[in-house]
Amino acid sequence: MADKLKIGIIGSGGIAQGCHMRGYASIPDLCEIVACCDVNPDTAKAAAEKFGVKKTYTDYQEMLEKEKPDAVSVATPNKYHKQPTVDALNAGVHVLCEKPLGMNADECREMCAAARDNKKILQVGLQSRFNGPSKWLKTYIDAGNMGDIYFARAQALRRRGVPGWGVFINKELQGGGPLIDIGVHILDLTLFLMGYPKPVSASGKTWDQLGKNPELWNAWGDYDREKFTVEDFAVGLIKFDNGAVVSLESSFMGNGPDPFETQLYGTKAGAIISPYADRNEGIRIFTEQNRLLMDIKPGNVPNVESAHTAEVQAFVDAILNDKPSPVPGENGLILNAIFDAIYKSSATGDEQKVDVSF
Ligand SMILES: NC(=O)c1ccc[n+]([C@@H]2O[C@H](COP(=O)([O-])OP(=O)(O)OC[C@H]3O[C@@H](n4cnc5c(N)ncnc54)[C@H](O)[C@@H]3O)[C@@H](O)[C@H]2O)c1
Repeated sequence: MADKLKIGIIGSGGIAQGCHMRGYASIPDLCEIVACCDVNPDTAKAAAEKFGVKKTYTDYQEMLEKEKPDAVSVATPNKYHKQPTVDALNAGVHVLCEKPLGMNADECREMCAAARDNKKILQVGLQSRFNGPSKWLKTYIDAGNMGDIYFARAQALRRRGVPGWGVFINKELQGGGPLIDIGVHILDLTLFLMGYPKPVSASGKTWDQLGKNPELWNAWGDYDREKFTVEDFAVGLIKFDNGAVVSLESSFMGNGPDPFETQLYGTKAGAIISPYADRNEGIRIFTEQNRLLMDIKPGNVPNVESAHTAEVQAFVDAILNDKPSPVPGENGLILNAIFDAIYKSSATGDEQKVDVSF
């Protein structure tokens, strides 16, 4: 390995430019983006110009062969996560792949196997755990302050928040709607805080009654209602082998408020966390001392400027210092397996097993 890690970008659109490339650019002593790849050459060039990157490609295989990067970010639409990730890992390259890891759990199995077989890091782009409130609460929970967490209510709800860009309304390219797109963030944070218990079964229901309706206003830009093929609202109930249960609610459109938060119920205390709120406003702890009910608001939550930058820095640190993946592919597999079960349950009406075997 050279002095600095050589980084390649596969899929150089919104999240690559807005988050991954900014993250790498924040640690110029440790890494350098050597090339940007995008099937759209104009996008690759625009990204390269913005960050002073010398080379651009439209074929990631060519980029892997010619540039021989140490690591890549895969920031393509969900349908195109698996193949570039597996090919990069098989070429001996570490991968930071955007969320959700795959279109389904089977794809994740292949990706995790490629990481394991090649002894390379596979990190999933789930940045919510890197926020200040998330870090504070994880430390609080791990010190035993909440006891056993037996229930959580995770919500990633948008009232009128269909992404008007990209391919987020296209089931064929994304695998699903808000459940797989934003539910993935709040569920990951919830399970991370709970110590990632093993899911055993899930039931759920999805709806698509609002997203297709041309009469409804959308806060996040216009989009073609006829091309809306994903769900607009999803709920799930997930059971774990330690007896814990998580309820998950996620929407692009719904006639209600817009919480992005999780409520955790433990035997010693409960908590509510909004990971993107101002740092000292993002957590409340609910407990009892000497028969007195206490609502606690922490005052020293770490200041994390950008969770995205922190996730990229953690990826580079793990590679350089031989640490385990900060967000392992196996976590991404668990999340996709839960979504598979919820979608199947919605179609069949029955509770489904969650298969996390790998
Ligand atoms: N972590 C987050 O907060 C977050 C936020 C937004 C998007 N994302 C994820 O990032 C991914 C991309 O989303 P986006 O908003 O950047 O979309 P985008 O459409 O802005 O960018 C995706 C880019 O990938 C390119 N592309 C498609 N197939 C390719 C291939 N085979 N090889 C190379 N390039 C290819 C497209 O041309 C496009 O420029 C999705 O998986 C999405 O879920 C994550």
